[in-house]
Amino acid sequence: MNKPEILVTRAVFPDVLERLARHFEVEANQSDRIFTEEELAQRLHGKAGVFTTPTERVTAHVIAANPRLKAICNMAVGYNNIDIDAAARAGVIVTNTPDVLNETTADFAWALLLATARRVTEAEHWLRAGKWDRWRFDTLLGADVHGSTLGIIGMGRIGQAIARRSTGFNMRVIYHNRSRLAPDLEAHANHAQYVSKEEVLRSADHIVLTLPYSPQSHHAIGAAELALMKRTATLVNIARGGIVDDAALIAALRAGRIAAAGLDVFENEPAFDPGFLSLSNVVLTPHIGSASEPTRRAMANCAADNLIAALTGGNPLNILTP
Ligand code: DGY
Repeated sequence: MNKPEILVTRAVFPDVLERLARHFEVEANQSDRIFTEEELAQRLHGKAGVFTTPTERVTAHVIAANPRLKAICNMAVGYNNIDIDAAARAGVIVTNTPDVLNETTADFAWALLLATARRVTEAEHWLRAGKWDRWRFDTLLGADVHGSTLGIIGMGRIGQAIARRSTGFNMRVIYHNRSRLAPDLEAHANHAQYVSKEEVLRSADHIVLTLPYSPQSHHAIGAAELALMKRTATLVNIARGGIVDDAALIAALRAGRIAAAGLDVFENEPAFDPGFLSLSNVVLTPHIGSASEPTRRAMANCAADNLIAALTGGNPLNILTP
């Protein structure tokens, strides 16, 4: 019997490709170039499934152009790159890779939070530029993390993992989410207290964004929200570009309206507003929140498991489509 045909849109661990090749005729994108919407639509002709990453836009047009497509399996927990409604209408299964990246991404949120509050990258640039000639009482003073108030906007599993880590820093945790967590989950998340988004913005010393991107969360943090924050506060975004209005954030950082920001994601990444580069009070990283070797492997294997299950009569674990 002929194996179903699939497309793997970007480079991935070779052993994961080998696993997929045991079940499918695999077309792999050896060049690792990001396909345009039209190229993706064309490459998918005749394919039953596609292994995607956050860089591909699987639009209604791509889905409509490929009536034989049965499954879109994304190697990411976020899935704003896929038109879920169009997939559901066409009866195409969409899956993501939740859970396997919670702890690694929470670790990275803390790396950015600490680097931002304590000006770690700025200090390193300063040292490398030969500016360190003596100890001074006021060199690169930052904000304390221990004993401060941590605000989390978007209290899903990653937000809760970030909150759990705050116990060692003796922090108070406040959060906002679409809905309040069950009491046992709040207790487990360092007794996090549910408040309005405005209250998080007004009261937190360090704010971490972990909410998913959607039209509803587009520019959830803009000029008005930044104006509510303490002048001494820091903002960390490990979720998705587009949740923060980058132009408004640059203006706030430049004006000292907030102290600093740590950003792993950007509007229109990998392009980003060059205004960030001229600011010393921002830590910039290239969307590496989940980028540990074991976690990226787990994500790739999870997406592969979902694709194998979806196309061989099994039950994929992480179905997003109704
Ligand atoms: C995700 O899983 O959504 C991450 O952003 C990908 O690194």
